[in-house]
Amino acid sequence: MDFKTQFEAYLHRVNQGLRTLVPETGTRPQRLHEAIRYSLDAGGKRLRPVLCLAAADLAAAKADALAAGIALECVHTYSLIHDDLPCMDDDDLRRGRPTVHKAFDEATALLAGDALLTHAFALLATHYASEPVLAAALVRELAEAAGSRRLIGGQMADLLAEKQASISAEDLDFIHLNKTAAMIEAALVMGGLCGGSGPDDLERLRRAGRHTGLAFQIIDDILDVTSDSATLGKTAGKDLAADKTTYVKHHGLDAAQRIAHEQTQAALEALKAIPGGAPFLFHLVSGMEKRIR
Ligand code: IPE
Ligand code: IPE
Ligand code: MG
Ligand code: MG
Ligand code: MG
Repeated sequence: MDFKTQFEAYLHRVNQGLRTLVPETGTRPQRLHEAIRYSLDAGGKRLRPVLCLAAADLAAAKADALAAGIALECVHTYSLIHDDLPCMDDDDLRRGRPTVHKAFDEATALLAGDALLTHAFALLATHYASEPVLAAALVRELAEAAGSRRLIGGQMADLLAEKQASISAEDLDFIHLNKTAAMIEAALVMGGLCGGSGPDDLERLRRAGRHTGLAFQIIDDILDVTSDSATLGKTAGKDLAADKTTYVKHHGLDAAQRIAHEQTQAALEALKAIPGGAPFLFHLVSGMEKRIR
């Protein structure tokens, strides 16, 4: 199967999973479930679930990785809903639509995020119950990635950095490696766990995820400056307006582009070391930079 056909097949599975594995709009209380579906159904690139499904296909696919992929998208979507709140980045636009707190209200946005986070773990516990060792490994991986040392820690450091005149390159890497790379790393590792990859390949997937995630957030920082709101589906120029410390602000546009390229290459090296070379993932990760070219 060529890359595009394979990508569309993964996307199709993810969209089907989102329909069947998350409570319907009509579920009581309706307003809450409407808000949940409003944010999930708005689209999004579905990068994390696709990474998860593709990583699972590298091995013998011990267990269906779809529920794990949907759990990742639930946590990711919750993190976006909360990231957009007035007390965080205060954004009006997400995935081409008014943000959840704009379309509904702040309390509903808060609760929709809470519910998505909780639902992710219910999905893992339910769908991998017949493989308790796998279920525990998936829960641990997602909990660590989403927890106070990683995603939340990165978000906290990101907000604290706004109040500082300048931060070090090392502090900026802490933010990016945690607020963004942690979940991308988890996506590949959770896929590898579902597929039954051995420890060496799991380590390669983790390394690939760390570099892919760092590149992904650097690219996001670059697009904030070089793209427009219609293309991004979120407000362009937001980091500049909030005077966020981003890769562009700290390193300059050219260096940010160079580092995004270096990080992408490091991710590709890790993928190449996997027996068979992980061609789909290789193509997906190498294509990410096209967004800034
Ligand atoms: C946005 O993530 C937040 C970052 C980590 C930069 P995505 O760019 O993957 O957002 P969606 O899921 O496509 O909307
Ligand atoms: C968001 O980083 C990372 C998370 C949501 C965890 P940003 O604040 O840069 O993401 P966008 O640009 O709003 O999507
Ligand atoms: Mg943010
Ligand atoms: Mg934001
Ligand atoms: Mg951003």
